[in-house]
Amino acid sequence: MQQIAQKKQRENDLMSIALIVHGGAGNISPERADAAQAGCKAAASIGWQMLQNGGSALDAVEAAVRSLEDNPEFNAGRGSCLNKDGKIEMDASIMDGSNLTVGAIAGVQLIRHPITLARRVQESEHAFLIGAGAEFFAKEQGIEFCTYEDLLTERQYNAWKKHDSTSLTYEAKGPGEKSEKHGTVGAIAIDSQGHLACATSTGGILNKYPGRVGDSPLIGCGFYADEHAAISCTGYGEDFIRLMIARRAASSVAEGHSAQEAADAAIQFLAEHAEGDGGLIIIDRNGNIGKAKNSAHLAHAYINEELAEPVADIG
Ligand code: GLY
Repeated sequence: MQQIAQKKQRENDLMSIALIVHGGAGNISPERADAAQAGCKAAASIGWQMLQNGGSALDAVEAAVRSLEDNPEFNAGRGSCLNKDGKIEMDASIMDGSNLTVGAIAGVQLIRHPITLARRVQESEHAFLIGAGAEFFAKEQGIEFCTYEDLLTERQYNAWKKHDSTSLTYEAKGPGEKSEKHGTVGAIAIDSQGHLACATSTGGILNKYPGRVGDSPLIGCGFYADEHAAISCTGYGEDFIRLMIARRAASSVAEGHSAQEAADAAIQFLAEHAEGDGGLIIIDRNGNIGKAKNSAHLAHAYINEELAEPVADIG
């Protein structure tokens, strides 16, 4: 027993911490590029500070995503897109790879930080709560509610008004339009204990059908974390759901591929089997970071022990 404990301690001693966040894939206009990178960098810095202080990957990814939810540049929390009825319905998820516990919520309204509600679910006997039930649970848990105006931004309101709101479905008319409509934020990390975690949050897709749920709160589709890897996806959710992109990437790492190879293979599979586009971020148990996209951009920022500060990019 003692030998096993010592071996585990030696392994833990070697664990290097790392974190990467994304602010969504798609087309990021030149006017938004700086703000998207700055928002990702700020979120990564918050999570990184927690990891450096010995905090858990789970706490770090929640804090990073809260920062992205606060930032009106991103389609999550404040800045979420509007559904067909002009309402804001949000989805979020969090997963602790060290014990495979998960918390997800879908279709919630007027919640200031959906990721923290997902965290409360992860800590409860439940795994996934939706709509009114999730909001009731939020009240029980003392989760912060907000007004519609707190979540609404001019950018998203104008995008909704511009969209053909008389169309009967939320279906985009082609790959280009799909790319314009989605957006998600996410964070993944490995802590000094070697534990991996992921957190993902989204307002979904612009002008989505009321009650429509994307990949972000669906385990194995828009996110996954286990002892091998943590993954957060962004893109046209319907494709990520049917192709189970996050689980595909996690399995690839478990089979021995590097984080980058797993990211590339999962996105290649997406490109081969779907019209919609997107991207993902991944960290493996050795702290290696991977990212891939088949969209024009993927706003992100990453940091590990070799870097003095987070590196941000939209490429
Ligand atoms: N990936 C976010 C969504 O489709 O809802």
